[in-house]
Amino acid sequence: MLNFTASTQSSTQIKSDALIVRIFEGEKILEPKIKELDKKLNGEISELLKSGDFEGKLKDVVTIYSHKRIEAKRIILIGLGKKKDFSMERSRETISHIIPLIKKFKAKSAAILLTKIQPKNAGVQTAIQAIVEALFLSSYTFLEYKNLKENRMSLEAIHFVLNTATDRTKALRGAKTGYIIASAVNFSRDLANKPGNHMTPQALADAAMQMAKENKIKCKVLEKPEIKKLGMGAFLGVNKGSPLDPKFIVLEYFGKKTGQPTVLVGKGITFDTGGISIKPSRKMEEMKFDMCGAANVLGIMKAVSELKLPYKLIGLIPATENMPSGEAIKPGDIVKAMNGKTIQVTNTDAEGRLILADALSYAARYKPKAVIDYATLTGAVIAALGTDYTAALTNDEKLFSKLEKASKESGEKIWRLPLAESYREKIKSPIADIDNIGTQEGAGTITAGLILQEFVSYPWIHLDIAGTAWTTTPKPGKPIGATGEGIRLTLEFLK
Ligand code: BES
Ligand code: ZN
Ligand code: ZN
Repeated sequence: MLNFTASTQSSTQIKSDALIVRIFEGEKILEPKIKELDKKLNGEISELLKSGDFEGKLKDVVTIYSHKRIEAKRIILIGLGKKKDFSMERSRETISHIIPLIKKFKAKSAAILLTKIQPKNAGVQTAIQAIVEALFLSSYTFLEYKNLKENRMSLEAIHFVLNTATDRTKALRGAKTGYIIASAVNFSRDLANKPGNHMTPQALADAAMQMAKENKIKCKVLEKPEIKKLGMGAFLGVNKGSPLDPKFIVLEYFGKKTGQPTVLVGKGITFDTGGISIKPSRKMEEMKFDMCGAANVLGIMKAVSELKLPYKLIGLIPATENMPSGEAIKPGDIVKAMNGKTIQVTNTDAEGRLILADALSYAARYKPKAVIDYATLTGAVIAALGTDYTAALTNDEKLFSKLEKASKESGEKIWRLPLAESYREKIKSPIADIDNIGTQEGAGTITAGLILQEFVSYPWIHLDIAGTAWTTTPKPGKPIGATGEGIRLTLEFLK
């Protein structure tokens, strides 16, 4: 854990490698704490503002060297944009703009001067939680396979300069929560960023075991014979082409004794070649990310346990590769899922719905009050919503409105797509109960959702994260690679 401290001390007296000062655009009168600082700096801040060299605009960042006028080595001014537009998401975004500087300066300690204005509706605790989350989410880099570990986050200690002494406990609680959440997201990113030759079904199971052991979570890994015994024919069908055995990972966290659990299901395809319906080579390497749903489930469970939240939470992960081989499942083959329904596998690249069919059937044994599944399920979701929105499909209105609220709070965007009644006909197969791609023109994400629904017997939300689970261009708080999108959304939802 990082060293977090908080006080109402004068910011001029706090020793640190960087004092971070956040200023709104067009602010005429400086807040008392900033005014005091400005005085010690011979009016440098007000001069920057007066000259227009620093306007407090959203992406404005300026460094001032203190030359021993104050205890901090340097001051980083960040623009917060207009006061009326300030939000939690903006607050997080502004922090992401200073990460390159923090890294460049190799700053070990930072002090952050809090403004009097919190984002709308937020208390000090939430505001600080958001700042800490942003610091550690935007500074993330995946260095495991690099010999030169440059560009690493350097911060070891963070001090919050508060306006009111009574805010201290709240500030530290917010910092701790933020740090736990960011660490869980980064843990999930680490798993998902590993390539297919390292992140195998066995490696995923080992990572789950290890995480569970460190966090008082029960974990068992069902091996191929048990998977067979359970009748998970769809999951096994997908595994047929792979030389690596499938793993069905079950995690159980009992933060309270009674009541129905929430079950989280994550797609764990450790590499998706498409199988016999093989994918084109272009961008196929990105299919190492086809286990991002699984990584999300592990990240969520880790955070929930570290935050000691009073929930009953189950995590289910079917893990396998999707490979072509002489033994692989073929187009037209028919498999039988755990709930007894038969599926004609017209396209072996539509494998996610097959492994989820069995995982969702298995979830029923918990009599869950809600099930959420996370899956990089369809390329079609990118055509529909692009790369900033996760698609949500659900059979429960109340669940959806809760999730929508959580989405606003967390800044992780979702958009609902319908489980269209009129398309349900189209997933029927002439010779099996269901066809794994159906005949509906377009609407690939909805078709996949309708197929999953055939295996669901409880309140349920399906999240198609194919567009959001990883990024090929850096976004605020999301460096290139796996994003862990869905974790903060779910933590907010559970809360
Ligand atoms: N893992 C892919 C979905 C995917 C594709 C995610 C591209 C992110 C980027 C999934 O298993 C898949 O291949 N789906 C097919 C379904 C189709 C055959 C009905 C797809 O989306 O093309
Ligand atoms: Zn596929
Ligand atoms: Zn896939």
